[in-house]
Amino acid sequence: MMRGVIENISVIGTGYLGATHAACMAELGYNVLGVDIDPEKIDSLSRGELPFHEPGLPELIRKHVDSGRLRFTTDLEEVGAWGDVHFIAVGTPQQAGGTGADMTFVNAATRSLARAISKDALIVGKSTVPVGTARRLAALVEEESAEGVRVSLAWNPEFLREGFAVEDTLRPDRLVVGTADEADEAVLRDVYSEALGRDTPWIATDFETAELVKVAANAFLATKISFINAFSEVTEAVGGNITTLADAIGHDTRIGRKFLNAGVGFGGGCLPKDIRALQTRVGELGLDHTMRFLDEMDQINLRRRDRVVNLAEQILDSDLAGKRIAVLGVTFKPLSDDVRDSPGLDVAVRLFSSGADVAVYDPEGNRNAAKRFPRLGYVDSLTEAVTDADLVVLTTEWNEFKALTPADLEPLVAQKQFIDARNVLSASQWEGSGWRFAQLGRIFTDA
Ligand code: UGA
Repeated sequence: MMRGVIENISVIGTGYLGATHAACMAELGYNVLGVDIDPEKIDSLSRGELPFHEPGLPELIRKHVDSGRLRFTTDLEEVGAWGDVHFIAVGTPQQAGGTGADMTFVNAATRSLARAISKDALIVGKSTVPVGTARRLAALVEEESAEGVRVSLAWNPEFLREGFAVEDTLRPDRLVVGTADEADEAVLRDVYSEALGRDTPWIATDFETAELVKVAANAFLATKISFINAFSEVTEAVGGNITTLADAIGHDTRIGRKFLNAGVGFGGGCLPKDIRALQTRVGELGLDHTMRFLDEMDQINLRRRDRVVNLAEQILDSDLAGKRIAVLGVTFKPLSDDVRDSPGLDVAVRLFSSGADVAVYDPEGNRNAAKRFPRLGYVDSLTEAVTDADLVVLTTEWNEFKALTPADLEPLVAQKQFIDARNVLSASQWEGSGWRFAQLGRIFTDA
């Protein structure tokens, strides 16, 4: 592969990561083929329709489907004869019945791609993988690729956040590439020349470091959230204000204020499974104690959900049967329709299991939540959710919920009782209006 000749980029896997990467590569001027084994997904993407919610992405996909720069296919042979650089962006979910990463899709995609490639090319892994994967896959690629064709492998982890996927991909805060060969690094410098022109930090390293950077970043973020949530348990016991505490330590630039929002904790398709997979992988390496603290982070995180359920029981005098509870937000965070490992959905299900009449409203998440838990009561508006509610529980901080005032709800609810499980509303305002109002990290007494 020569520098300066990259025109055709393929992206294998068209989920959050792949669809975003494909559209953004087209935006940077490349011809892009998005590849997936799911023909339905390919059909809808080819029509410019996105099967999930991500701000700005449908527009970008439509723009480049229309311009002809972005196409989608299920045909790997076509891709193999066409692409200069192939990104692998398939999922690595948590193993069913285990805590490690399920590598089935990455392994299969890499093997089939290597077999299909019929011109010199670079395969670039973007999926989040256990350390050691890239080295193993590089050997696999060498074994499987056709004779006389030079195919090599690099690792280039992705740090995009759902809700900001396009922005994070087009304007990353750093680029990390693990390669075995300087020529491969040069190809990636070419691919990312636009970002490099803006002085985006470029970290060129070996396979293992590149893989570890990704899991270290997510483990650190999870730890930050659980750290503040552990202090929530303390302030719930002795008093104090968790938000003020976070603000105060956050002013120290060595600590920083971001990811110190105490609340019902982290969920989603990345942080929870990544900290579990990291512990599992490190255990396999014989380092049984090294990442054990992450287990504690996981436990702290899950205890926050218990705390919300306990508060609901306390407020409703331990009798949830038949009580109407509005659950506001079942996506794992705002600006997403993703309900994977969602704290809000978990809380809703547990309240429902205790006999409550749960009315769930999420601006984007109802459909996905209903697929997983069809028996919860889903409603189409905030007003419907809170009407006749004995308790309102805010579990995802959508703007629509952050803007709520007591006056909005008072004409609708049956009882003025609220749990703000994301600590985004003003306790004094709600308490001042006569509400029983609970937040995480605060003492809650039945005044
Ligand atoms: C996370 C990382 O932030 C991305 O950098 C990474 O690329 C991505 O995982 C991935 O591995 O693909 P994401 O899962 O989109 O991104 O969500 P985050 O914005 O990290 O939020 C994760 C969870 O933490 C959410 O449930 C959120 O509500 C919670 N959170 C976040 C808190 O409880 N408190 C905070 O202060 C911040």
